[in-house]
Amino acid sequence: MTDHHTPFTPATPALLPAMRGIAFGGDYNPEQWPHEVWDADYQAFNAANITTVTLGVFIWSLIQPSEETYDFSMLDEIVARATSEGRSICLATATGAVPPWVATEYPEVTRVDFEGRRHGYGQRHNACWSSPAFRRLSAALAGRIAERYAGNPSIVAWHIGNEYGGACYCEKCAASFRVWLRERYETLEALNEAWNATFWSHRFTDWDQIVPPSALTEHWRGPGYTAFQGITLDYRRFTTDNAISQFNGEKAAIRHYSDLPVTTNLMGFYEPLDYHRWAPHLDFASWDNYPPRADEPWRTALTHDLMRGLKDGAPFWLMEQTPTVTASRDVNPVRKPGVMRLWSWQALAHGSDGVLYFQMRASRGACEMTHGAVLDHSGRLDTRAFREVAGLGAELKAVGDEVIGARTPAKVALLIDWDSWWAVEMADGPNRLVRYLPTVLEWGRALWEAGAQLDVVSVTAELSSYDVVVAPLLHMVKDGVAERLDEVVARGGSLVTGYLSGRVDADDRRFLDDVPGPLKGTLGIRVSETDSAEPDHSNPILFAEGPGADCGLTAAGRMIFEVIVPEGAEVVARYGEDFYAGEAAVTLNRRPAGDTRLAGVTEGQAWYIGTALDHRGLSHIMRMVLARHDLVGPYADLPSVELSTRIAPSGIRFDFVINHSAEPVEVPVHGDGQDVLGQRHLAMGERVTLGATDLIILRS
Ligand code: GLA
Ligand code: ZN
Repeated sequence: MTDHHTPFTPATPALLPAMRGIAFGGDYNPEQWPHEVWDADYQAFNAANITTVTLGVFIWSLIQPSEETYDFSMLDEIVARATSEGRSICLATATGAVPPWVATEYPEVTRVDFEGRRHGYGQRHNACWSSPAFRRLSAALAGRIAERYAGNPSIVAWHIGNEYGGACYCEKCAASFRVWLRERYETLEALNEAWNATFWSHRFTDWDQIVPPSALTEHWRGPGYTAFQGITLDYRRFTTDNAISQFNGEKAAIRHYSDLPVTTNLMGFYEPLDYHRWAPHLDFASWDNYPPRADEPWRTALTHDLMRGLKDGAPFWLMEQTPTVTASRDVNPVRKPGVMRLWSWQALAHGSDGVLYFQMRASRGACEMTHGAVLDHSGRLDTRAFREVAGLGAELKAVGDEVIGARTPAKVALLIDWDSWWAVEMADGPNRLVRYLPTVLEWGRALWEAGAQLDVVSVTAELSSYDVVVAPLLHMVKDGVAERLDEVVARGGSLVTGYLSGRVDADDRRFLDDVPGPLKGTLGIRVSETDSAEPDHSNPILFAEGPGADCGLTAAGRMIFEVIVPEGAEVVARYGEDFYAGEAAVTLNRRPAGDTRLAGVTEGQAWYIGTALDHRGLSHIMRMVLARHDLVGPYADLPSVELSTRIAPSGIRFDFVINHSAEPVEVPVHGDGQDVLGQRHLAMGERVTLGATDLIILRS
C-alpha cells in the first residue's frame, strides 16, 4: 500500500468543472474488462471525440478488499490510462455500492425497510445513512481517493455516491430522527402542536416515544397513507437531510485535499428526496435522464429546467443517459435513429454543459448486461449506437465550446415544492388520484407547447425577474410564498394557481380560514366546497364570458371540482353540470399595477383554476396569460417544435429549434443568425425545413 501526500491549499470551489469543451463521454468501468479491451476502448473514444470519463463509481470492493487493506493498483492504472489518453476525469468516491465485508462486519450498514425488515447484503444504494460505520468508512474512502488523486490535473470533478435514493427505518435512523426533531422543535410541546397530536391521543411526553412512521406504526397500504401527516412529512425532510449529511461527510473528506467541484447524480423529479434542500450542498447539479416514454419531450425539458433551477440557472451536467436502451424496465424499446442525438442537444439547449452516457462499454454480466452502451460486447464501431455517438461527438467538437457557461433567459417560473408534493399526495381526501408530478407536467406541458421558456424553481426562489409565475398544486403555503406571489401581481405580473392550493401550513395543518388560505386575497376568491370524482367522469367547463370567451370553448374538468365564490375576481369559466352548474370554475383577479416595470402592462393578474382542466382548457388559459406578456413562442402552433435559448458569457445567443416529430416540418425562422450545424446564414422569416428528429442551432 503506497500513498502519496499532496500538499493542499483550500480555495473557493469553482461552480462547474473547468472544461475545454462540452463534457462528452460517460461512466467507464474498465475494471470489468481485460487490458486488451482498454486499448480498443481508447481507440474508439478517439474516433468518437470522447473527452470525459466518469471512473470508479462501483470500484469500492476492488480498492478496499478489507477494512485494513487499500489496494489502489487497479484504480491507479485506470486513472493513469485516462490521463495519458488526455481525457478529463470525473472521479467517483466509489461509495455507490458497498462491498460484502462492510455488511458482514457492520450489519448496521444494511437498511431496515418500510415494513421493518432488516435487509441482508445485496444490490446497491442500500446503506443506512445514519450508520456510524457507513459514515466513517465512506468518508475515509472518499478522503483516501481525494488524497491520492487530487494532484492529477486531468480530474475535473468529484462524483459522490451514486443516485442517492430510498429511506431507512432502523433504530439508528430513529435515534437520528429524534435528534433532528429536537433541533427543529426544541420542545415536545411545540412538536405536539405541529403534529396536531391531541388527535387520536398522540401527545408525546418523552422524545424516546417517537419512532419512524412506517408500515408498523402510522401507515397503512404504503408510504403515502399515514394517520399523522406531521410525522411522515418530518421523516421525509429528515431523510433528505440525513442523506445530505452523509454526502457532506464525503465532501468534507474531499475538501481536505481538493477544491474541485463536487456533485452527485440526481434523478430529476425524484419524489423521495427534496433536491431543493440538497442544492446548496452541490457545487454543480447533474442528473440521469431515462425518460419513461419517448413521446413526452416536455417532460425531459421540464426536468432539465428543474435541474438547472437547483443552482440558480447555472449550467449542469447530463451525467447519464443511455445511448440505446435501458434494461431495468419490463419492456425496453431502443431509441430510434436520431433520438439520442436530439435529446443530447435538448439537454444542451436547456443548460447542460455535458453529455454523458451510462455507459461507455456494456457490462459483461449481472442485471445491466443488456443495458445499452457506447460500445457493446462485440466492441464494434459500426453499430448504430456507436455511429450516432461518434456523429454527435464530431458536432459537439465543432459547436460546443462557445455554449459553455451559457444561461437561459426565462421570464416564466414554474414553482415546485417537495413539501407540497408530499403533503398533497399523503392527504386523505379529497381525491388521492390527483398526483403531483403528472399535474405539474401537464401544466408545464401547456406552457412548453406555447413556447414559453421557463425556469422550474422552488417556492422559495427569488421571483422578481419573472413576468409569469405558475404554481400548480401549491398545497402548502410556507416561507412567505403568499407574500411573494402577491408582489408578482402587485407589480403587474401574472400568477396562475389552482385546485388544492393554499390548504395547509408548513406543518401540514389547515389554515383556520377559508380556502385558499393566505392566497385568497391575491386571488380574490374563496372556495366554498370541493367535490371529487373518478378520472373518467368530467364536467363541462364553459368559457362563456370574460377574457378568452370569444372562442366559445367548452373544456372538460375532472377529478376535483372546487366551487369558487368570487370575492373581487371575475369569472372566466363556469361548471356546466351538477348541482354547482353555473358556479365559477376558473377566475381572474385583476389588480391595477402600481409601479409597473413591464412595458404596456397596467394591471397584475391572478388566475385560479378550480378543476383539473383538460389539455385544451389549460392551454387556452396559459396562452392567454403568456400572450399578455408577449411570451408565446414563435413555434407555438407546432406542438412538436421546441425553441430553447442560451446566452453565453460572451453575449453570443444560441437558439435551439428542435423538431421532436418523426416527420419533417417547415418553419419560418424566427430570427437572423448563423445555422451552426448547417453552416449557412438564415434570415428572419425565411422558410426552412426542420428535418425529422432534427434541429437547427441559430447563433446570433
Ligand atoms: C442509473 C445508475 C447507473 C446505471 C444506470 C442504468 O442511472 O446510476 O449506475 O445503473 O442507471 O440505467
Ligand atoms: Zn437506518
